[in-house]
Amino acid sequence: MQKIYVKPKDCWMNDPNGFIYFKGLYHLFYQCFPYAPQWGRMHWRHVVSKDLVSWENQGIALYPSKTDDRSGCFSGTAVENDGKMQLYFTGVNYLVENPENINHCVDEQFVSAQLMITSENGFDFDNIGDKKTVLPVIHDAKTGDARHTRDPKVWKNGDRWYMMLGSTIEDKQGRLLFFTSKDGESWKYKNSVTKEKFGWMWECPDYFEVDGKQIVIFSPMGFLKDGKADDAQAVCMQVKFDEKTCQMELPDEYQLMDYGMDLYAPQSTLDEEGRRILTAWLRMPEPVDGKWQGMMCIPRVVEAKENHIYFRVHPNIQAAYTREISAPYEADESGYRVRFSLKDGEKVNIGGYIIYREGSRICTDRSSLYRKFTNHRVQFTTPELKEGFELEVYVNPNLIEVFVNDGEAVISNTVYDLGKEIETDVKMRIETLEK
Ligand code: FRU
Repeated sequence: MQKIYVKPKDCWMNDPNGFIYFKGLYHLFYQCFPYAPQWGRMHWRHVVSKDLVSWENQGIALYPSKTDDRSGCFSGTAVENDGKMQLYFTGVNYLVENPENINHCVDEQFVSAQLMITSENGFDFDNIGDKKTVLPVIHDAKTGDARHTRDPKVWKNGDRWYMMLGSTIEDKQGRLLFFTSKDGESWKYKNSVTKEKFGWMWECPDYFEVDGKQIVIFSPMGFLKDGKADDAQAVCMQVKFDEKTCQMELPDEYQLMDYGMDLYAPQSTLDEEGRRILTAWLRMPEPVDGKWQGMMCIPRVVEAKENHIYFRVHPNIQAAYTREISAPYEADESGYRVRFSLKDGEKVNIGGYIIYREGSRICTDRSSLYRKFTNHRVQFTTPELKEGFELEVYVNPNLIEVFVNDGEAVISNTVYDLGKEIETDVKMRIETLEK
Protein backbone atom coordinates (compact mmCIF):
# COMPACT_ATOMS: atom_id res chain seq x y z
CA MET A 1 0.00 0.00 0.00
CA GLN A 2 1.39 3.41 -1.00
CA LYS A 3 0.22 6.57 0.71
CA ILE A 4 -0.40 9.92 -1.02
CA TYR A 5 2.27 9.50 -3.71
CA VAL A 6 1.94 7.04 -6.54
CA LYS A 7 5.36 5.91 -7.71
CA PRO A 8 6.79 2.72 -9.16
CA LYS A 9 8.69 0.39 -6.83
CA ASP A 10 11.33 -0.86 -9.20
CA CYS A 11 10.87 0.51 -12.70
CA TRP A 12 10.01 3.45 -14.92
CA MET A 13 6.85 5.59 -14.79
CA ASN A 14 5.57 8.37 -17.02
CA ASP A 15 2.09 9.70 -17.84
CA PRO A 16 -1.02 8.99 -15.78
CA ASN A 17 -3.57 7.09 -17.87
CA GLY A 18 -7.18 5.98 -17.53
CA PHE A 19 -7.86 7.98 -14.36
CA ILE A 20 -11.49 7.26 -13.39
CA TYR A 21 -13.84 6.86 -10.44
CA PHE A 22 -15.53 3.57 -11.31
CA LYS A 23 -17.90 1.52 -9.14
CA GLY A 24 -16.77 3.10 -5.90
CA LEU A 25 -13.01 3.07 -6.51
CA TYR A 26 -10.45 5.39 -8.07
CA HIS A 27 -8.55 3.60 -10.81
CA LEU A 28 -5.31 5.06 -12.04
CA PHE A 29 -3.03 3.54 -14.64
CA TYR A 30 0.34 4.82 -15.73
CA GLN A 31 2.84 4.46 -18.52
CA CYS A 32 5.32 1.91 -17.28
CA PHE A 33 8.33 0.02 -18.58
CA PRO A 34 8.20 -2.86 -16.10
CA TYR A 35 11.72 -4.20 -16.58
CA ALA A 36 14.01 -1.29 -15.72
CA PRO A 37 14.00 2.34 -14.62
CA GLN A 38 14.16 3.66 -18.17
CA TRP A 39 11.63 4.49 -20.90
CA GLY A 40 10.88 1.54 -23.19
CA ARG A 41 8.09 -0.62 -24.61
CA MET A 42 5.14 0.85 -22.75
CA HIS A 43 2.68 -1.06 -20.57
CA TRP A 44 -0.10 0.30 -18.35
CA ARG A 45 0.36 -0.44 -14.67
CA HIS A 46 -2.75 -0.20 -12.52
CA VAL A 47 -3.30 1.14 -8.99
CA VAL A 48 -6.60 1.64 -7.13
CA SER A 49 -7.71 3.71 -4.18
CA LYS A 50 -10.85 4.21 -2.09
CA ASP A 51 -10.00 7.77 -1.15
CA LEU A 52 -7.10 9.09 -3.29
CA VAL A 53 -4.92 8.74 -0.18
CA SER A 54 -3.93 5.03 -0.06
CA TRP A 55 -3.13 3.24 -3.28
CA GLU A 56 -2.92 -0.49 -3.96
CA ASN A 57 -0.92 -1.95 -6.82
CA GLN A 58 -2.87 -4.17 -9.23
CA GLY A 59 -0.02 -5.08 -11.56
CA ILE A 60 0.03 -4.71 -15.33
CA ALA A 61 -3.33 -4.04 -17.04
CA LEU A 62 -2.30 -3.41 -20.65
CA TYR A 63 0.61 -4.89 -22.50
CA PRO A 64 1.64 -5.20 -26.16
CA SER A 65 -0.27 -8.07 -27.75
CA LYS A 66 -1.36 -7.10 -31.28
CA THR A 67 0.54 -5.88 -34.32
CA ASP A 68 -0.87 -2.38 -33.69
CA ASP A 69 0.51 -2.16 -30.15
CA ARG A 70 3.46 -4.54 -30.46
CA SER A 71 5.91 -1.76 -29.59
CA GLY A 72 3.94 -0.14 -26.80
CA CYS A 73 0.61 0.81 -25.25
CA PHE A 74 0.87 4.59 -25.12
CA SER A 75 -1.29 7.02 -23.16
CA GLY A 76 -5.06 7.32 -23.12
CA THR A 77 -8.21 7.59 -21.04
CA ALA A 78 -10.89 5.49 -19.34
CA VAL A 79 -14.65 5.88 -19.65
CA GLU A 80 -17.60 4.05 -18.20
CA ASN A 81 -19.93 2.65 -20.85
CA ASP A 82 -22.93 0.54 -19.99
CA GLY A 83 -21.48 -0.33 -16.60
CA LYS A 84 -18.18 -1.47 -18.13
CA MET A 85 -14.78 0.20 -18.11
CA GLN A 86 -13.39 1.08 -21.52
CA LEU A 87 -9.76 2.09 -21.95
CA TYR A 88 -8.75 4.02 -25.06
CA PHE A 89 -5.05 4.26 -25.80
CA THR A 90 -2.50 4.54 -28.58
CA GLY A 91 -0.88 1.44 -29.98
CA VAL A 92 2.60 1.91 -31.37
CA ASN A 93 4.17 -0.31 -33.99
CA TYR A 94 7.89 0.10 -34.71
CA LEU A 95 8.54 -0.53 -38.38
CA VAL A 96 12.28 -0.69 -37.73
CA GLU A 97 13.48 -1.70 -34.28
CA ASN A 98 16.82 -0.77 -32.85
CA PRO A 99 18.57 -4.17 -32.85
CA GLU A 100 20.54 -3.22 -29.74
CA ASN A 101 17.45 -2.11 -27.82
CA ILE A 102 14.21 -3.36 -29.28
CA ASN A 103 12.31 -1.01 -26.97
CA HIS A 104 13.28 1.89 -29.23
CA CYS A 105 12.85 2.33 -32.96
CA VAL A 106 15.28 3.62 -35.57
CA ASP A 107 14.84 7.11 -37.06
CA GLU A 108 11.24 7.51 -35.96
CA GLN A 109 10.12 4.65 -38.20
CA PHE A 110 6.90 3.77 -36.44
CA VAL A 111 3.15 4.17 -36.85
CA SER A 112 0.36 4.76 -34.34
CA ALA A 113 -3.24 3.56 -34.16
CA GLN A 114 -5.93 4.18 -31.55
CA LEU A 115 -7.05 1.15 -29.58
CA MET A 116 -9.75 0.26 -27.07
CA ILE A 117 -10.19 -2.54 -24.57
CA THR A 118 -13.19 -3.28 -22.36
CA SER A 119 -13.32 -4.68 -18.86
CA GLU A 120 -16.46 -5.81 -17.01
CA ASN A 121 -15.07 -5.10 -13.57
CA GLY A 122 -12.20 -2.64 -14.12
CA PHE A 123 -9.63 -5.22 -13.01
CA ASP A 124 -9.43 -7.86 -15.73
CA PHE A 125 -8.28 -6.92 -19.23
CA ASP A 126 -8.13 -9.49 -22.00
CA ASN A 127 -5.20 -8.19 -24.04
CA ILE A 128 -5.11 -11.31 -26.21
CA GLY A 129 -8.79 -12.14 -26.72
CA ASP A 130 -10.15 -8.63 -27.30
CA LYS A 131 -10.04 -6.92 -30.66
CA LYS A 132 -8.17 -3.74 -29.81
CA THR A 133 -7.98 -1.34 -32.79
CA VAL A 134 -10.79 1.21 -33.24
CA LEU A 135 -9.03 3.86 -35.30
CA PRO A 136 -6.39 2.50 -37.69
CA VAL A 137 -3.19 4.39 -38.57
CA ILE A 138 -4.06 7.69 -40.29
CA HIS A 139 -2.36 7.77 -43.69
CA ASP A 140 -3.97 10.97 -44.94
CA ALA A 141 -1.57 13.73 -43.88
CA LYS A 142 -4.37 16.30 -44.09
CA THR A 143 -6.25 14.51 -41.32
CA GLY A 144 -3.35 13.52 -39.08
CA ASP A 145 0.14 12.16 -38.85
CA ALA A 146 0.74 8.41 -39.22
CA ARG A 147 3.41 8.47 -36.50
CA HIS A 148 2.70 11.34 -34.13
CA THR A 149 -1.02 11.03 -33.47
CA ARG A 150 -1.77 9.80 -30.01
CA ASP A 151 -3.16 9.99 -26.48
CA PRO A 152 -6.94 9.74 -27.02
CA LYS A 153 -9.12 11.71 -24.63
CA VAL A 154 -12.60 10.21 -24.94
CA TRP A 155 -15.84 11.51 -23.44
CA LYS A 156 -19.57 11.29 -24.04
CA ASN A 157 -22.16 14.02 -24.25
CA GLY A 158 -25.78 13.06 -24.88
CA ASP A 159 -25.64 10.06 -27.17
CA ARG A 160 -22.47 11.09 -28.93
CA TRP A 161 -18.90 10.05 -28.18
CA TYR A 162 -15.96 12.40 -28.73
CA MET A 163 -12.30 11.61 -29.22
CA MET A 164 -9.59 14.26 -29.10
CA LEU A 165 -6.07 13.33 -30.20
CA GLY A 166 -2.73 15.12 -30.01
CA SER A 167 -0.95 15.42 -33.33
CA THR A 168 1.39 17.44 -35.53
CA ILE A 169 1.48 19.09 -38.92
CA GLU A 170 4.62 17.78 -40.63
CA ASP A 171 6.57 17.68 -37.37
CA LYS A 172 6.48 21.47 -37.32
CA GLN A 173 3.32 22.56 -35.58
CA GLY A 174 1.14 20.89 -32.96
CA ARG A 175 -2.57 20.32 -33.47
CA LEU A 176 -5.56 18.61 -31.93
CA LEU A 177 -7.83 16.29 -33.92
CA PHE A 178 -11.49 15.66 -33.15
CA PHE A 179 -13.48 12.55 -34.00
CA THR A 180 -17.04 11.53 -33.07
CA SER A 181 -18.79 8.20 -32.78
CA LYS A 182 -22.24 6.77 -32.05
CA ASP A 183 -20.99 3.64 -30.33
CA GLY A 184 -17.41 4.37 -29.23
CA GLU A 185 -16.08 1.88 -31.77
CA SER A 186 -16.36 3.38 -35.22
CA TRP A 187 -15.07 6.92 -35.44
CA LYS A 188 -15.46 9.73 -37.96
CA TYR A 189 -13.02 12.61 -38.37
CA LYS A 190 -14.68 15.98 -37.66
CA ASN A 191 -12.23 18.81 -37.22
CA SER A 192 -8.85 20.01 -35.99
CA VAL A 193 -7.29 23.04 -34.37
CA THR A 194 -3.74 24.36 -34.35
CA LYS A 195 -1.74 27.37 -33.23
CA GLU A 196 1.50 28.81 -34.51
CA LYS A 197 4.67 29.01 -32.43
CA PHE A 198 3.32 26.69 -29.78
CA GLY A 199 5.50 23.60 -30.07
CA TRP A 200 5.74 20.97 -32.82
CA MET A 201 3.64 18.15 -31.33
CA TRP A 202 0.82 18.37 -28.79
CA GLU A 203 0.76 15.44 -26.39
CA CYS A 204 -1.84 14.24 -23.89
CA PRO A 205 -4.79 16.57 -24.59
CA ASP A 206 -7.62 16.85 -22.09
CA TYR A 207 -10.88 18.77 -22.30
CA PHE A 208 -13.63 19.46 -19.76
CA GLU A 209 -16.00 22.08 -18.43
CA VAL A 210 -15.58 23.50 -14.98
CA ASP A 211 -17.43 26.40 -13.34
CA GLY A 212 -19.12 27.09 -16.67
CA LYS A 213 -15.78 27.43 -18.50
CA GLN A 214 -14.50 25.20 -21.26
CA ILE A 215 -10.91 24.25 -20.58
CA VAL A 216 -8.35 22.47 -22.68
CA ILE A 217 -5.04 21.09 -21.45
CA PHE A 218 -2.21 19.72 -23.53
CA SER A 219 1.55 19.24 -23.44
CA PRO A 220 3.34 20.85 -26.40
CA MET A 221 6.77 19.42 -27.24
CA GLY A 222 9.52 21.90 -28.09
CA PHE A 223 7.71 24.64 -26.23
CA LEU A 224 10.46 26.44 -24.32
CA LYS A 225 13.36 26.16 -26.75
CA ASP A 226 16.00 27.41 -24.29
CA GLY A 227 18.40 24.52 -24.68
CA LYS A 228 17.55 23.09 -21.25
CA ALA A 229 16.14 19.64 -20.60
CA ASP A 230 12.35 19.29 -20.59
CA ASP A 231 11.45 21.92 -23.17
CA ALA A 232 8.01 20.29 -23.35
CA GLN A 233 5.55 21.79 -20.84
CA ALA A 234 1.92 21.29 -19.88
CA VAL A 235 -0.37 24.25 -20.55
CA CYS A 236 -4.05 25.02 -20.01
CA MET A 237 -6.41 27.62 -21.42
CA GLN A 238 -10.05 28.64 -21.56
CA VAL A 239 -11.41 27.84 -25.01
CA LYS A 240 -14.59 27.95 -27.04
CA PHE A 241 -15.66 24.50 -28.19
CA ASP A 242 -18.69 23.81 -30.34
CA GLU A 243 -19.65 20.20 -29.73
CA LYS A 244 -21.72 20.04 -32.89
CA THR A 245 -18.95 20.90 -35.32
CA CYS A 246 -16.00 20.11 -33.00
CA GLN A 247 -14.64 23.51 -33.77
CA MET A 248 -12.33 24.76 -31.05
CA GLU A 249 -11.06 28.32 -30.67
CA LEU A 250 -7.80 28.66 -28.80
CA PRO A 251 -7.08 32.04 -27.19
CA ASP A 252 -3.66 33.70 -27.00
CA GLU A 253 -3.69 33.62 -23.20
CA TYR A 254 -2.60 30.42 -21.52
CA GLN A 255 -1.32 29.29 -18.13
CA LEU A 256 1.45 26.87 -17.29
CA MET A 257 -0.09 24.06 -15.27
CA ASP A 258 2.78 24.27 -12.81
CA TYR A 259 5.72 26.66 -12.46
CA GLY A 260 8.20 23.97 -11.33
CA MET A 261 8.60 22.85 -14.97
CA ASP A 262 8.82 19.15 -13.98
CA LEU A 263 5.10 18.42 -14.23
CA TYR A 264 3.91 16.92 -17.51
CA ALA A 265 1.05 15.09 -19.22
CA PRO A 266 -1.70 15.85 -16.67
CA GLN A 267 -4.94 13.89 -16.85
CA SER A 268 -8.26 14.77 -15.26
CA THR A 269 -11.40 12.95 -14.18
CA LEU A 270 -14.40 13.56 -11.91
CA ASP A 271 -14.12 12.55 -8.28
CA GLU A 272 -16.76 10.92 -6.10
CA GLU A 273 -18.32 14.32 -5.39
CA GLY A 274 -18.25 15.48 -9.02
CA ARG A 275 -15.22 17.75 -8.65
CA ARG A 276 -12.86 18.00 -11.62
CA ILE A 277 -9.55 16.60 -10.37
CA LEU A 278 -6.25 15.79 -12.01
CA THR A 279 -2.91 14.22 -11.49
CA ALA A 280 0.26 14.40 -13.58
CA TRP A 281 3.69 12.91 -14.10
CA LEU A 282 6.64 14.55 -12.33
CA ARG A 283 9.74 14.09 -14.45
CA MET A 284 13.01 13.03 -12.81
CA PRO A 285 16.48 13.08 -14.38
CA GLU A 286 17.74 9.75 -12.96
CA PRO A 287 16.50 6.73 -11.03
CA VAL A 288 16.32 6.90 -7.24
CA ASP A 289 18.70 4.36 -5.67
CA GLY A 290 19.18 3.01 -9.19
CA LYS A 291 15.70 1.48 -8.93
CA TRP A 292 12.75 3.65 -9.90
CA GLN A 293 12.09 6.86 -11.80
CA GLY A 294 9.03 9.14 -12.11
CA MET A 295 6.21 10.08 -9.71
CA MET A 296 2.62 11.33 -9.76
CA CYS A 297 1.75 14.62 -8.13
CA ILE A 298 -0.89 14.66 -5.42
CA PRO A 299 -4.41 15.01 -6.86
CA ARG A 300 -5.47 18.61 -7.50
CA VAL A 301 -8.95 20.07 -7.83
CA VAL A 302 -9.43 22.29 -10.87
CA GLU A 303 -11.52 25.43 -10.50
CA ALA A 304 -11.94 28.45 -12.75
CA LYS A 305 -12.82 31.94 -11.63
CA GLU A 306 -12.93 34.79 -14.09
CA ASN A 307 -9.82 34.40 -16.19
CA HIS A 308 -7.81 32.23 -13.87
CA ILE A 309 -7.55 28.44 -13.51
CA TYR A 310 -6.77 27.16 -10.00
CA PHE A 311 -5.17 23.88 -8.97
CA ARG A 312 -6.06 23.27 -5.33
CA VAL A 313 -4.96 20.41 -3.10
CA HIS A 314 -7.66 17.75 -3.03
CA PRO A 315 -9.58 17.92 0.29
CA ASN A 316 -8.99 14.21 1.01
CA ILE A 317 -5.24 14.86 0.92
CA GLN A 318 -5.54 17.95 3.06
CA ALA A 319 -7.56 16.01 5.62
CA ALA A 320 -4.93 13.25 5.86
CA TYR A 321 -2.31 15.48 7.50
CA THR A 322 -3.61 15.68 11.05
CA ARG A 323 -0.64 14.99 13.33
CA GLU A 324 1.31 18.08 14.25
CA ILE A 325 5.05 17.56 14.66
CA SER A 326 7.91 19.87 15.58
CA ALA A 327 10.49 18.70 13.02
CA PRO A 328 10.62 16.64 9.79
CA TYR A 329 12.38 13.67 11.38
CA GLU A 330 9.14 12.90 13.29
CA ALA A 331 7.22 12.57 10.01
CA ASP A 332 5.62 9.50 8.48
CA GLU A 333 7.71 7.97 5.67
CA SER A 334 5.28 9.46 3.11
CA GLY A 335 6.33 12.92 4.21
CA TYR A 336 4.80 16.00 5.75
CA ARG A 337 3.09 19.30 5.06
CA VAL A 338 4.28 22.76 6.08
CA ARG A 339 2.02 25.82 6.18
CA PHE A 340 3.19 29.41 6.52
CA SER A 341 2.89 32.84 5.00
CA LEU A 342 5.82 34.82 3.60
CA LYS A 343 6.60 38.51 3.82
CA ASP A 344 8.68 40.14 1.12
CA GLY A 345 12.32 38.96 1.46
CA GLU A 346 11.52 36.08 3.82
CA LYS A 347 12.94 32.65 3.16
CA VAL A 348 12.44 29.02 4.20
CA ASN A 349 15.00 26.27 3.70
CA ILE A 350 13.44 22.81 3.66
CA GLY A 351 16.31 20.33 3.64
CA GLY A 352 18.21 22.34 1.02
CA TYR A 353 15.15 23.36 -1.00
CA ILE A 354 14.72 27.13 -0.72
CA ILE A 355 11.39 28.91 -0.91
CA TYR A 356 11.37 32.71 -0.77
CA ARG A 357 9.29 35.73 -1.66
CA GLU A 358 10.50 38.43 -4.01
CA GLY A 359 7.96 41.24 -4.25
CA SER A 360 4.70 39.70 -5.36
CA ARG A 361 6.16 36.42 -6.53
CA ILE A 362 7.05 33.19 -4.76
CA CYS A 363 10.31 31.64 -5.91
CA THR A 364 12.06 28.34 -5.29
CA ASP A 365 15.64 27.14 -5.70
CA ARG A 366 16.71 23.49 -5.77
CA SER A 367 20.29 24.07 -6.94
CA SER A 368 21.89 22.32 -3.96
CA LEU A 369 19.70 19.24 -4.55
CA TYR A 370 20.27 19.08 -8.31
CA ARG A 371 24.04 19.73 -8.62
CA LYS A 372 24.67 16.80 -10.93
CA PHE A 373 22.00 17.77 -13.43
CA THR A 374 23.65 20.73 -15.06
CA ASN A 375 21.23 20.92 -17.99
CA HIS A 376 18.15 21.12 -15.78
CA ARG A 377 16.34 24.16 -14.49
CA VAL A 378 16.92 24.84 -10.80
CA GLN A 379 15.25 28.20 -10.10
CA PHE A 380 11.56 28.84 -10.43
CA THR A 381 9.10 31.64 -9.96
CA THR A 382 5.35 32.14 -10.00
CA PRO A 383 3.82 34.97 -11.98
CA GLU A 384 2.86 38.05 -9.94
CA LEU A 385 0.31 36.91 -7.38
CA LYS A 386 -2.96 38.62 -6.63
CA GLU A 387 -4.37 36.76 -3.67
CA GLY A 388 -1.71 36.92 -0.92
CA PHE A 389 1.29 34.83 0.08
CA GLU A 390 -0.11 31.83 1.92
CA LEU A 391 1.86 28.65 1.31
CA GLU A 392 0.95 25.02 1.75
CA VAL A 393 3.94 22.82 0.97
CA TYR A 394 3.80 19.02 0.63
CA VAL A 395 7.18 17.43 1.17
CA ASN A 396 8.23 13.93 0.18
CA PRO A 397 11.87 12.73 -0.11
CA ASN A 398 11.77 13.17 -3.91
CA LEU A 399 9.03 15.70 -4.57
CA ILE A 400 8.10 19.08 -3.12
CA GLU A 401 4.81 20.71 -4.13
CA VAL A 402 4.35 24.36 -3.21
CA PHE A 403 0.72 25.49 -3.39
CA VAL A 404 0.38 29.25 -3.17
CA ASN A 405 -2.89 30.93 -2.16
CA ASP A 406 -4.93 27.75 -2.34
CA GLY A 407 -3.79 26.91 -5.85
CA GLU A 408 -3.50 30.33 -7.49
CA ALA A 409 -0.08 29.02 -8.60
CA VAL A 410 1.81 25.81 -7.91
CA ILE A 411 5.53 25.03 -8.09
CA SER A 412 6.31 21.30 -7.99
CA ASN A 413 9.89 20.11 -8.07
CA THR A 414 11.50 16.71 -7.94
CA VAL A 415 14.59 16.60 -5.70
CA TYR A 416 17.38 14.23 -4.66
CA ASP A 417 19.04 13.83 -1.25
CA LEU A 418 16.64 16.15 0.53
CA GLY A 419 17.82 17.02 4.06
CA LYS A 420 15.75 16.49 7.19
CA GLU A 421 16.09 19.97 8.69
CA ILE A 422 14.02 23.10 8.21
CA GLU A 423 15.86 26.39 8.64
CA THR A 424 13.85 29.59 8.88
CA ASP A 425 12.69 32.43 11.11
CA VAL A 426 9.22 32.16 9.66
CA LYS A 427 6.52 30.76 11.94
CA MET A 428 5.10 27.56 10.51
CA ARG A 429 2.97 24.55 11.24
CA ILE A 430 4.30 21.10 10.34
CA GLU A 431 1.93 18.18 10.05
CA THR A 432 2.17 14.56 9.02
CA LEU A 433 -0.13 11.57 8.54
CA GLU A 434 -1.72 9.73 11.47
CA LYS A 435 0.31 6.78 12.73
C1 FRU B 1 4.01 11.93 -23.02
C2 FRU B 1 4.10 10.75 -23.95
C3 FRU B 1 2.78 10.50 -24.65
C4 FRU B 1 2.88 9.05 -25.03
C5 FRU B 1 3.63 8.46 -23.86
C6 FRU B 1 4.58 7.37 -24.20
O1 FRU B 1 4.92 11.87 -21.98
O2 FRU B 1 5.15 10.92 -24.88
O3 FRU B 1 2.54 11.36 -25.74
O4 FRU B 1 1.64 8.46 -25.20
O5 FRU B 1 4.33 9.54 -23.25
O6 FRU B 1 5.14 6.82 -23.06
